[in-house]
Amino acid sequence: MDSVPANEKQAYRGLLGQDFTDTVIKSMGPKTSPRLREVMTSFIQHIHDFARETNLTVDEWAAAVQMINWAGQMSNDSRNEGQLMCDIIGLESLVDDITYQAAVESNNPATTSAILGPFWRETPIRKNGTSISSDTPADAKLVFMHGKVSNASTGAPVANATVDIWQASTNGLYEQQDVNQKDHNLRGKFVTDSNGEYSLYCLRPTPYPVPNDGPSGKLLTLLDRHEWRPAHIHLIVLAEGYKSITTQVFDRDSKYLEDDSVFAVKEGLTATFTERKGDPQAKLELVYNINLAPAS
Ligand code: BEZ
Ligand code: FE
Repeated sequence: MDSVPANEKQAYRGLLGQDFTDTVIKSMGPKTSPRLREVMTSFIQHIHDFARETNLTVDEWAAAVQMINWAGQMSNDSRNEGQLMCDIIGLESLVDDITYQAAVESNNPATTSAILGPFWRETPIRKNGTSISSDTPADAKLVFMHGKVSNASTGAPVANATVDIWQASTNGLYEQQDVNQKDHNLRGKFVTDSNGEYSLYCLRPTPYPVPNDGPSGKLLTLLDRHEWRPAHIHLIVLAEGYKSITTQVFDRDSKYLEDDSVFAVKEGLTATFTERKGDPQAKLELVYNINLAPAS
């Protein structure tokens, strides 16, 4: 390359400049759907610009491909490494917020959303007032969690809403990651009563590290970052005639609220665990109300 005169160098680079990018974009055929065309046009443009701007080398590109392949090879029913890779570069949080902002702009005053994360799984319905902890660890604190699901526009209670809840144990593992936890431990679905209310016993959540034995962990190390998440409980709330909400409630007193490894903490998502008196099962209480926007 160095023997190529400067003006020809320019011409050579030009071969893989915008004209080249336009050629790739225009190679999409007429059967491509309009939305896929829009998304892929932007994706190809940005990824070509990114390669040009950083002078990406073949070795660097190959290392990235190897990481993506590694993520795929590692993923299975209890392990979603591709999603985790997106999480540590903030992509799931960004997409969640773009989706939520669209709802805010349409005057939707619903409860703020947060990322799903890789550990949701289908789980049975449990009775209100029961515990999701089947074998409470000695270092855990039980919490009575309860609240009301309401119509975000009218304030009316929403009966028959499903509140799907899951959390990690105090060892930092979700049940599907941990052979020592019972199937469906620390997760369950609760259906609101005629007052829109749900209730359960769960653990006071504790901070935990995201899995670091794959490409996401390797990337975190290369980026000189820690893998910790602040203490949180996950929720998905569904009700007929309403837009569903996926969110997380964070312990206001937790470490890592300011530097969550997956950037999921947003304003309005923290809550305080208070003292609970007269309940032999739990010394702590968490009130968490949810507003759902009507679907129309
Ligand atoms: C979680 O909160 O379960 C989670 C979210 C993103 C990455 C890893 C875990
Ligand atoms: Fe989590």
